[in-house]
Amino acid sequence: MIREGWIPARVRARYNATDSIAVFDLEPISEGPVADSPAGSHIDVRVGPEGIVRQYSLCARDSLPGTHRIAVLRVDPSRGGSSAMHDLRVGDTVEVSKPRQNFGLAEVSRHILLAGGIGITPLIAMAWSLDRSGGDYHLHYVARSRETAVFVPDLHDNPRATLHFTGGDRARRPDAVTLLGPPDPKAAVYVCGPESFTSQMLAGAADLGWAPSALHTERFGAAETKDPAQLSFAVRLASTGAQYEVPPDRSILQVLRANRVRVDFSCEQGICGECVVTALAGTPDHRDDVLTDSEREGGAVAICVSRSQGPLLELEL
Ligand code: FES
Repeated sequence: MIREGWIPARVRARYNATDSIAVFDLEPISEGPVADSPAGSHIDVRVGPEGIVRQYSLCARDSLPGTHRIAVLRVDPSRGGSSAMHDLRVGDTVEVSKPRQNFGLAEVSRHILLAGGIGITPLIAMAWSLDRSGGDYHLHYVARSRETAVFVPDLHDNPRATLHFTGGDRARRPDAVTLLGPPDPKAAVYVCGPESFTSQMLAGAADLGWAPSALHTERFGAAETKDPAQLSFAVRLASTGAQYEVPPDRSILQVLRANRVRVDFSCEQGICGECVVTALAGTPDHRDDVLTDSEREGGAVAICVSRSQGPLLELEL
């Protein structure tokens, strides 16, 4: 059964780029032509008998009409998603979302791309896009070793890319001072990688004085439980006045869907932005990784993970 908002897709090709990274070309079956997506876009993939949903950046070098190319790291231990992906063979089917872009190139004259491990996927797509448009960039790719790194042949002769191999020793990871240097008002910094890498780079950039508006990141993976002490609160729909109790162990999204309120959603992890609505009253307790500060100030709230700081949240629904 295909669920609403999901598109069946066939594995058109796959190859193992490294021992733990497989590259897949997924071909949506029933959606008509698939347009090329801007660099930094990702899709959700629903895979396996349990319908596990994961997000993967699109990373085709050249136009691949009708196909989404993704690279998937087998996580050890896997929570199910990456091993289910690696079990796929040519001809198997999954479900995919339409591409989304929460991590695009800013309108600046210089771009600094910092990739850690599998975080290379959106950033190499950005580098290729900047190659095509003539944009000024430098890509730093930090990986354990040449053998575990993906896209090495594509980057090897690129003077605007630097590969850093750490041997798995975090102490050998280059720091933000080395990679970024002093703040440049004409530059933007993009960071994608494991949480420890992303946190280290962002903290280092902030210490150097880079403005928060110059720093861009995307985090994939299941959202952490940010506050186990969740309290009950109520949500009210502005259109009807209907009010529902959200218990500690349920999300706003789950409560609304259980009450047949039609809302869009996809990842249920606070990273895709599909479920975002506007809070008209009350104070959201934001727990997503997708909204910007200005979007939050404008009332946006991701109802799949965020909660309420007070007893009532009124939503523009
Ligand atoms: S469903 Fe993806 S952010 Fe809420």
